[in-house]
Amino acid sequence: MRVLILGGDGYLGWPTAMNLSALGHNVMVVDNYLRRQIAQQTSSEPLFPNPNLIERCDAFREATGCDIKARIADCSDYRLLEEIIRDFQPEGLVHYAEQPSAPYSMQGFEEARLTLNNNLQVTFNVIWAVLEHAPNCHIVKLGTMGEYGTPNIDIEEGWLDVSHNGRNQKFLYPRQGGSLYHTTKVLDTDLLWFYVRTYGLKVTDLMQGPVYGLYTDESSKDRRLLPNFHYDDIFGTVVNRFIVQAVAGVPMTVYGGGGQTRGYLNLKDTLRCVQLALENPVPSGELRILNQFTEQFSVNELAERVVDAAKGIGINATVNSIPNPRKELESHYYNAKHQNLIEMGLKPTLMSTEVLTEMMETVRSFEQLIVPEKILPRVNWNK
Ligand SMILES: NC(=O)c1ccc[n+]([C@@H]2O[C@H](COP(=O)([O-])OP(=O)(O)OC[C@H]3O[C@@H](n4cnc5c(N)ncnc54)[C@H](O)[C@@H]3O)[C@@H](O)[C@H]2O)c1
Repeated sequence: MRVLILGGDGYLGWPTAMNLSALGHNVMVVDNYLRRQIAQQTSSEPLFPNPNLIERCDAFREATGCDIKARIADCSDYRLLEEIIRDFQPEGLVHYAEQPSAPYSMQGFEEARLTLNNNLQVTFNVIWAVLEHAPNCHIVKLGTMGEYGTPNIDIEEGWLDVSHNGRNQKFLYPRQGGSLYHTTKVLDTDLLWFYVRTYGLKVTDLMQGPVYGLYTDESSKDRRLLPNFHYDDIFGTVVNRFIVQAVAGVPMTVYGGGGQTRGYLNLKDTLRCVQLALENPVPSGELRILNQFTEQFSVNELAERVVDAAKGIGINATVNSIPNPRKELESHYYNAKHQNLIEMGLKPTLMSTEVLTEMMETVRSFEQLIVPEKILPRVNWNK
C-alpha cells in the first residue's frame, strides 16, 4: 500500500513510518519540524538529541535495507500538500501533523492561535487534497480520548444512541475538551464528519489515550532510530515525567488529588492499531471512530506502578502532590469502551514492571542530561 504519513518526524509518526516500511508498504513522510521549533523556543528539548528526518531515513535504510521517502514541508500550505498527494497517490494517509501539547495551547494568545490555525488548517487541507486528488484514499486521523473529557456516563466508541421524546437517533458522542488543543481535535472530528457524510470521504478517527514507550521492533535496532523522548511540562506525558523524576531522584509531581483517570497504551500498540486501521479501510461515506487505549488507571495508580518498578532496580522513588495547574476533575467516574480494536486483532502490550524498567534503564543511561526543573509546570489554566 502507498502510505503517506503527515507528522512523520514526531514521537508517533517516525516509529509508524519505520513499522509500515518494514512491513513492506511504500511509505512517504512529511514534516515541517514544528515540534522541534516549539521545543527549542520553550526550552522543552527531548532528553537525548534525535537525528533530523533525512538522517533518520538514512539510518533506517542502513539498519534494515528498507526505504522511507521524506519531504520537509508545511501541511498547512495547501498548494504544497496537494502537490504531494497528487504525485504520491496515497491509498492510506495517516494524519499526525498537529500541535499536540495541551499546556502549550493554554500558554497565551499566540500559542493558542498557532494551535488552532495549524491543527484545523492541516485537517482541512488533508480533506480537500484527498477529495481533489486521491478520493479513494483512506484517511486515518489521530484524535484523542481527551475529546470526550470525563463525563459521568460510560464513554462509547465515538457514537451515542439517543432516545428523546419517543424517537431515536445516533449522534457523535458528546465532546468536551479540557484544553484548547483537545478542542481543536473535537473540531477536527466535526470537520471530518461533515465531509464524510456530504462527499463520501473514507475516514477512521482514532481516539487515542496517552502513549508511552521507546522500543518497537525497528527502534530497538539502533539508538539513532529511537523516537523523541520529551519529559518536560510542555511535551512530556505523565508517564515520561514520572520515570525521569524517579531516575533523577526527585519526587514525582502528582497534579492535585491524583484521581484523574485516563486510558493508556504502549507505543507498540499504537503502531499495531494504525496498521489495523489502514489494512481494514472503511467504505466511502463512513466515519469509523475507534477508542485506542488498552488499560485505564488513575495518576496515583500510575505513580505506584513507577515506585514499584523503580524499587526493583534499586531506586527509592517518592511522590509529592502539587497544586493542579489544569482545570480538570481530580476524582471522577471513568469507564471508556475499547473493544473494537481488540476485535480487529490488537493484542495489548500492557504496562508491566518489565516495560517500565526497560524505559527507566534507558533514561538512566542519559541521566547526566536530565534537567529536573524542566518537569515542573510553567503553564496554569487559571491564569
Ligand atoms: N503522543 C500521545 O500520547 C498522543 C495521544 C493522543 C493523541 N495523539 C495525537 O497523535 C498525533 C501525533 O502525536 P505525537 O505525540 O507524535 O506528536 P509530535 O508533536 O511528536 O508529532 C507531530 C508531528 O507533526 C509535525 N507537524 C505539526 N504541524 C505540522 C504541519 N503544519 N506540517 C507538517 N508537519 C507538522 C510536527 O513537527 C511533529 O513532528 C497528534 O495529532 C496528537 O494529537 C498523541
